[in-house]
Amino acid sequence: MKKMLILLVVAGLVAVTSMFALANNGPAEIKFEAKMGAVTFDHVGHQGAVADCATCHHKGLEAGTCSSCHGVDAAAPKAKKAFHKLCKDCHKAQSGPTKCKECHVK
Ligand code: HEC
Ligand code: HEC
Ligand code: HEC
Ligand code: HEC
Repeated sequence: MKKMLILLVVAGLVAVTSMFALANNGPAEIKFEAKMGAVTFDHVGHQGAVADCATCHHKGLEAGTCSSCHGVDAAAPKAKKAFHKLCKDCHKAQSGPTKCKECHVK
């Protein structure tokens, strides 16, 4: 009985571990083209610094890219407004870059 239980626990752990291994973390780096100059976003670096994916992916990871709503869906603020708010608000609080040219590089 005890052996059976241990086996079940081990099988469960293996299943959970492989779920994490298969989880899609998205691209390591994302480049946003903008007239002001392209913004290079270190996605993997931010994933390490920001504990909860939902801090940015506020509609959940299944909802798709930010730009599938922002700039498309009338209920969602325009992409520029949404990105500036998200990125700059946190940077102000956690001393990340807030000057235009620290993000936009020509
Ligand atoms: C600091 C903000 C931020 C954090 C934290 C973050 N992401 Fe992202 N992620 C983004 C942005 C911005 C994009 C680009 C979306 C776009 O192109 O519109 C993105 C894109 C993605 C994509 C590609 C989306 C698609 O449908 O093509 C995946 C997958 C993803 N993120 C997964 C994750 C996971 C998993 C975590 C947590 C471990 C995470 N992200 C944490 C900001 C973030
Ligand atoms: C923390 C990083 C960051 C800072 C600081 C920042 N931006 Fe942006 N900005 C972005 C991101 C990300 C986008 C989204 C690009 C997109 O729409 O794909 C963007 C979009 C824009 C856009 C719209 C896109 C376009 O091509 O017209 C303009 C205009 C803009 N920013 C101007 C500015 C100005 C002016 C400043 C300084 C007052 C500034 N930004 C500071 C990250 C930043
Ligand atoms: C399924 C559609 C959808 C997706 C995907 C989505 N958003 Fe949103 N977002 C909205 C809507 C709608 C609002 C308006 C407030 C609300 O309903 O939450 C919003 C509000 C926001 C706000 C607050 C803006 C303000 O002025 O207060 C920010 C910041 C934001 N989104 C950033 C993002 C980022 C960054 C991503 C991608 C990582 C993203 N959103 C993905 C629909 C979406
Ligand atoms: C919840 C907090 C948070 C959010 C949201 C966030 N950042 Fe950051 N970001 C940081 C912190 C903290 C740093 C400073 C990291 C360091 O100095 O090592 C940083 C640094 C940066 C840098 C400097 C170079 C680097 O990668 O270290 C860029 C560029 C940047 N962020 C772009 C963005 C963009 C674009 C967005 C929005 C799509 C964004 N960040 C959203 C916390 C955040």
